[in-house]
Amino acid sequence: MAATTVRLGVNIDHVATLRQLRDTPYPDVLAAARECIAGGADQITIHLREDRRHINDGDVAALKAGLKGTSVDINLEMAATEEMLAIALKTRPHSICVVPEKREERTTEGGLDLSNSKRNELLAHIASEARKAGIVVSFFIEPDARDMEISKKLGATAVELHTGALCIAHQKNQASALEVEWKRLHGALGAGPMLNLMVNAGHGIDYRIAPELGRLKGIVEYNIGHAIVCEAVFCGLREATRKMKAALLGDSAAPSGAAAHKGAT
Ligand code: PXP
Repeated sequence: MAATTVRLGVNIDHVATLRQLRDTPYPDVLAAARECIAGGADQITIHLREDRRHINDGDVAALKAGLKGTSVDINLEMAATEEMLAIALKTRPHSICVVPEKREERTTEGGLDLSNSKRNELLAHIASEARKAGIVVSFFIEPDARDMEISKKLGATAVELHTGALCIAHQKNQASALEVEWKRLHGALGAGPMLNLMVNAGHGIDYRIAPELGRLKGIVEYNIGHAIVCEAVFCGLREATRKMKAALLGDSAAPSGAAAHKGAT
């Protein structure tokens, strides 16, 4: 049965990417966020990378001021550093999502590595400080029950499960990899209620896989960026957001850009 409601966080990093490509004053990130909200976004997600390759400090401040008084949350994705913690404590977004970050990567490639006790101390410190400030703390991790358990111990109130490998296998119609990835995700989702952790999902989610992910029990929130911004090329951000929310709720209608999408049905 299709879900009756889902929470959609629209990641607008790539709106800022377009601006940074030419160092122009447009497109305006706050105006883009407002379009997403008009299309049904429950949250605006941004990743302030250490190299500021897309979202910058000015965007964070503009979004915070511009969305004040709305019911829409800001979710700040950030590396586990003191600099980012200080920005989070100053900005006080609704939530932070702590992600691994490598300068040379194209996008966040995997979940946090929770096997290093020294780094885990830093994660625990960040979680503790952010929680004291009333911020929801999420860790971006692989869909793995053990990593969920460690996240809980380190003080996370939520986890975001990395759906990248699942989505790539789905896009490329790789049946055996897909089976493995669905199993991993189901296994992790089973652990959520026992750990009393809020479970979110994100990375690589497109319009084709959204109906399948949307009907899974146990996922509270989906953070989706690239596919929505790509679809906006054809129909605008408001409509692209509306369609993604409809897709998560079970509407499998193909997006406008589907003709060029290899493997689309
Ligand atoms: N969630 C996290 C933690 C991310 O790092 C990203 C990419 O910035 C996303 C969600 C959105 O991924 P995509 O752009 O592939 O939808």
